[in-house]
Amino acid sequence: MIGNWKPEDWRSKTVLQQPEWTDESELASVEAELKQLPPLVFAGEARNLKERLGEVCDGRAFLLQGGDCAESFAEFHADNIRDTFRVLLQMAVVLIFGAKRPVVKVGRLAGQFAKPRSAPTETIDGIELPSYRGDMINEMAFEANSRRPNPLRQLRVYNQSACTLNLLRAFAQGGYANLHEVQSWNMGFVANSLQGAKYKNLASSLTESLQFMAACGMTSNNTTQIRETEFYTSHEALILGYEEALTRVDSTSGDWYDCSAHMLWIGDRTRQIDGAHVEFLRGINNPIGIKVGPSMNPDDLVRLVEILNPDNEQGRLTLIARMGADQVEQKLSPLVKSIKEEGYKVVWACDPMHGNTIKSSNGYKTRPFDKILAEVSSFFAVHEAEGTYPGGVHFEMTGQDVTECLGGAQAITEDALSDRYHTHCDPRLNASQALELAFLIAEQIKNEIKIGNSAERVES
Ligand code: PEP
Ligand code: CO
Repeated sequence: MIGNWKPEDWRSKTVLQQPEWTDESELASVEAELKQLPPLVFAGEARNLKERLGEVCDGRAFLLQGGDCAESFAEFHADNIRDTFRVLLQMAVVLIFGAKRPVVKVGRLAGQFAKPRSAPTETIDGIELPSYRGDMINEMAFEANSRRPNPLRQLRVYNQSACTLNLLRAFAQGGYANLHEVQSWNMGFVANSLQGAKYKNLASSLTESLQFMAACGMTSNNTTQIRETEFYTSHEALILGYEEALTRVDSTSGDWYDCSAHMLWIGDRTRQIDGAHVEFLRGINNPIGIKVGPSMNPDDLVRLVEILNPDNEQGRLTLIARMGADQVEQKLSPLVKSIKEEGYKVVWACDPMHGNTIKSSNGYKTRPFDKILAEVSSFFAVHEAEGTYPGGVHFEMTGQDVTECLGGAQAITEDALSDRYHTHCDPRLNASQALELAFLIAEQIKNEIKIGNSAERVES
């Protein structure tokens, strides 16, 4: 625990990317109400995740983090939650088969409602209004009343997060994630795709293995690992008043935990060393992610790691590199080298989404699937060259059949983007593209194991 750190200390620092709330007393009363509400997660769960990420740090497990760029009130539905969860389970199975090691599953779910923006306002036809900052703050419709930051939306975020988490826990522990159901996860539009067919083969092998294990006495009745799965939640800790209100002292350890999610990350635009977000995150004991974009230099990264993880605790920090396919080698290598030289224990994960966003010729914000893939490949190549472990991936994806990213086996074209473009912020992989990516990553990991880069760690 860090000295006499308090959850409100960030308020004395420069804070970026906060809305201009117009009604301070309404904001204060919402924050007071949030402080009275029960925590969404238990500190012990955050500690378990830290332990799992410690295994990733050691090269003994792989991190799969993914979900919506921004959750929304409009898309809040059991089917959407189930479909995203199901695709993450499918991806995890593909990766476990490829990597032959456990996969730590972390959703961008149950709290991912606030977005950093490149400009505080947006002007259309000469009318200037506040930018849309996510459903936690305002509405997307370009209209003065909709764009006014409304503090009450934070209570709705809390409630939607609680309901989402409740359903995720039910799925994870109530039988939906039972490995014997592996065939039935292959549903909807994906089942009829090339990826669906590939997945079906893999699921058949897995079912055979399970039959063998059952014959040896290990069934879902007597083996929790077959019957249930561990699933964790995460989001960007952006709106600090909300995060502060959900930060509590854990009665078991006496330490502070931000109980809005198991893992919180700091965005690429709010990672200033003397800024409010770093001040807040350094005091909570959850596992923390740092988005690492192309403007990060090795000295700043080392200082950030020292501030956020002074005890060099394994599993505490995940560095999520998002360089853009063309810059990975040049920008990531020196960072990986410095962290290694300093002896810092971190998980390196690859976010191949945020550095590869482009505008299509017909005006859609999109991401080419081949660039996403290229970034993942270069990420693996950098770690192979440095002798470090490529620990995980971080995606924006959905279980729905959207057309937001270009290419993939479905060959989504620029013209097709308008068919089902539903995102509230950045373009997401659809279920078929997400599965395709999982197969490709599984191949990369297999190669890495063949090369022997992490074989030693796996055996130790
Ligand atoms: C995000 O993860 O949606 C995001 C805004 O990322 P970054 O901070 O890396 O730009
Ligand atoms: Co995004």
